[in-house]
Amino acid sequence: MEIHSFNEIAAQAFVFFIAGFETSSSTMTFAFYEMAKNQEVLDKVREEIRRVVAKYDGKITYDGIMEMTYMSQVFDGWKYPIVATLQRITTKDYKLPGEDVVLKKSSKIMISLQGIHHDPEIYPNPEKFDPDRFTPENKEQRHACAYMPFGEGPRICIGMRFGIMQAKIGMAIMLKDYKYTLHPDSRDMKLHNKSILLAPAGKVLLNIEKVD
Ligand code: HEM
Repeated sequence: MEIHSFNEIAAQAFVFFIAGFETSSSTMTFAFYEMAKNQEVLDKVREEIRRVVAKYDGKITYDGIMEMTYMSQVFDGWKYPIVATLQRITTKDYKLPGEDVVLKKSSKIMISLQGIHHDPEIYPNPEKFDPDRFTPENKEQRHACAYMPFGEGPRICIGMRFGIMQAKIGMAIMLKDYKYTLHPDSRDMKLHNKSILLAPAGKVLLNIEKVD
């Protein structure tokens, strides 16, 4: 796309802000909620952060973040695709393999990520927050589109690496020396039922404590 005017540049910058801000912050919120509910996961991530940070002279570095593989699993393990549906328009007639259904050219298609990520045939006991589902070996066993919080194909999220990196840096900084537990008012988080992006219905409140 050619960009002609100030307005178009401003619009592009605005889309980056909209697409990058709420998605990343909600990802962190959901991850902290699940970790606060699953203290053994939180402790394991902290151990990993401390081990890797010590290796890099106490600094949080790009290479270090890339080595935090358990943290990646936690990040993947979240059950909340912030963009809950992908949207596409068919460019030609397409018969769904194994189904008696033909999608006509120019049809608007909505693909439910929330549905796929919570499908018990793909993820048994889908409501369980389980980072071990996302070890490289377990990931390989599933279809490449069984998990696509950033979408897939030519229109996959353009900020995916940036989004993952900034969320992981945030997690490393926030978890290295602190412990998080759920505030009693936030023990049973509900999802917002009117939000375009997946979001908690209320605030997610956490108690924070320094750890040695
Ligand atoms: C955890 C954070 C994020 C999540 C979960 C997320 C998720 C997504 C999803 C699902 C799509 C649609 C992809 C598709 O239809 O196949 C998308 C598109 C997009 N995202 Fe993200 N995103 C995140 C962070 C970011 C960041 C940090 C930026 C920018 C700095 C960004 C910019 C965009 C843009 C510009 C598009 C439209 C791409 C296009 O249509 O070609 N996103 N994102």
